[in-house]
Amino acid sequence: WVLMVTAQTPTNIAVIKYWGKRDETLILPINDSISVTLDPAHLCTTTTVSVSPSFEKDRMWLNGKEISLSGARYQTCLREIRSRATDVEDEKKGIKIGKKDWEKLHVHIASHNNFPTAAGLASSAAGFACLVFSLAKLMNVKEDQGKLSAIARQGSGSACRSLFGGFVKWKMGKEEDGSDSIAVQLADEKHWDELVIVIAVVSSRQKETSSTSGMLESVETSMLIKHRAKEVVPKRIIQMEEAIKDRDFPSFARLACADSNQFHAVCLDTCPPIFYMNDTSHRIISYVEKWNRSEGTPQVAYTFDAGPNAVLIARNRKVAAQLLQRLLFYFPPQSDCDFNSYLLGDRSI
Ligand code: DP6
Repeated sequence: WVLMVTAQTPTNIAVIKYWGKRDETLILPINDSISVTLDPAHLCTTTTVSVSPSFEKDRMWLNGKEISLSGARYQTCLREIRSRATDVEDEKKGIKIGKKDWEKLHVHIASHNNFPTAAGLASSAAGFACLVFSLAKLMNVKEDQGKLSAIARQGSGSACRSLFGGFVKWKMGKEEDGSDSIAVQLADEKHWDELVIVIAVVSSRQKETSSTSGMLESVETSMLIKHRAKEVVPKRIIQMEEAIKDRDFPSFARLACADSNQFHAVCLDTCPPIFYMNDTSHRIISYVEKWNRSEGTPQVAYTFDAGPNAVLIARNRKVAAQLLQRLLFYFPPQSDCDFNSYLLGDRSI
């Protein structure tokens, strides 16, 4: 027999960024972060996990290619979920798996991203969140989403935020064991549903410096990152929570843009400096800044993760339509750009 579960998890985009760890193994951050979760129908990871007595070892395929599960991050997620497995019964198939049996059974994991892996579109976030969520469903883990987020966090920090829909905060926590470093939902996807997210894929090439090694180098060499984590982000988190609660787009946009720019300033302040944005990214920033100034009040926010692709957040559908039209005019399709729009999304299903 084979027992199978399929789950779909959307990616999330940070509007107040996580950059820097205080514990590399447990993946504990040096500051809180806030993100929006995208609509799972579009930018997501789909993962099918299966278990069968005939499987001889744990195996995983990513986008059709087998990958090794020997890395510490995969091992931690598997171990943490397995240790919380409970009895599973499927009467129709006549399957009965006891709590203890899970230690001997092996799983096969097939995961698929419908967007470029490691191009700075938070593929590891959706990937680990989906892995943890689907394994938890398969093994009938009874922990709440917050506890699951702390497990997903140990796969990839940003993954903990993909366990929830809408607006999500990852609390850095204080405990040494990381038990209070979890994600919480600030508001669901219906709270501010006028927002439209437009992603400009400027390049789908794999980034040169991974987030993991980039943030480690920043923590080791940047002075600015200390000021950011201690002085800047704590205030911004409070202001961003307020802006989200009040659906205050001008404040939301001002904070998101400033935070993205400071994160990239920290990257430049790292030794050797890390360049994630390219000329097209810079042109998009200038364009949005000019547009916002000419309107007198922000219409569009921008944010860039560890890559050149722009995530633009339009205040409503009318602005999103204008934005797409203008982007296509300034950055025609043959110019290595590709634009798509997304709505805010719900959590894993
Ligand atoms: C720039 O979560 O990919 O996207 O925890 O080492 O796996 P690890 O890093 P990762 O870093 C994401 C960094 C970011 C900002 C963010 O998503 O908050």
